[in-house]
Amino acid sequence: MPLYKITVNGAERSVEAVPDMPLLWVLRDLLGLTGSKYGCGIGACGVCTVLLDGDQEQSCQVPISTVGKKKVTTIEGFRRTARTRCRRLGSSTTCPNVAIARRGRSWRRRRC
Ligand code: FES
Repeated sequence: MPLYKITVNGAERSVEAVPDMPLLWVLRDLLGLTGSKYGCGIGACGVCTVLLDGDQEQSCQVPISTVGKKKVTTIEGFRRTARTRCRRLGSSTTCPNVAIARRGRSWRRRRC
């Protein structure tokens, strides 16, 4: 099996996998990042979405052999980035940019 070096959430990782193994299974089964979920497996539901160089992709449709040097960001990495951004803004408890979420007609503050 070929060895692939991919960057996931800012860290370089090495994985041995068959070339057509979907990125979703590499993340979940080989790297233990279970934030991306399996839903339909045909690219329709979006529960496996990750960012590849900042673009949304359904990881169930991306063979590991096509990832190359693209930077993979999973929900685990996205959460970390959002928290860091909040701290940089000077708010340790709430973040003005990402902490306000719309729920029905009311706006509610959320913790980062
Ligand atoms: S599992 Fe549904 S789009 Fe990937």
